[in-house]
Amino acid sequence: MRGFNFMAEDLAIIQGTKEEQYQALIPQIKGLLEGETDFIANLANVAAALKEQFGWFWVGFYLVKNEELVLGPFQGPVACTRIKKGRGVCGTSWAKEETLIVPDVEKFPGHIACSSLSKSEIVLPLRHNHQVIGVLDVDSDTLDTFDQTDQKHLEEIVQLIPVTAN
Ligand code: SME
Repeated sequence: MRGFNFMAEDLAIIQGTKEEQYQALIPQIKGLLEGETDFIANLANVAAALKEQFGWFWVGFYLVKNEELVLGPFQGPVACTRIKKGRGVCGTSWAKEETLIVPDVEKFPGHIACSSLSKSEIVLPLRHNHQVIGVLDVDSDTLDTFDQTDQKHLEEIVQLIPVTAN
């Protein structure tokens, strides 16, 4: 039996630089993921932990299903449910298999505006056995929110999530 059950409401929100916030959050995310193998449950808690700590406008996952990205666990306003490969920031990140930082979404050709309030965005591929199985998408309601610090730590965070069959 697991001796300690990490409760979502135990998340300690800290003030500080972005780096300090990630340093405080990452061990807590490890705690949330520890002992839980359900992929969807883990995606849901990672989205919630990021949203709680950083207060970003929208944080969520899209998962590759039948050659499309389909909306997965997220925190924030309702969003588009399906995105084709190569479309929008998410579909481009999937097609290129790389992280995309978009300082101003209006300047990204083909950006899919789920909300007009979204101003900047970062999208990272989720990989399993060298294949992209989904993306983490984070949207901000201010311009130029995301940088290399976010890329480094968000890539670290998505790699912590064990990929299991749901
Ligand atoms: N803006 C994204 C679509 C997803 S929503 O922002 C949640 C895109 O261009 O791929």
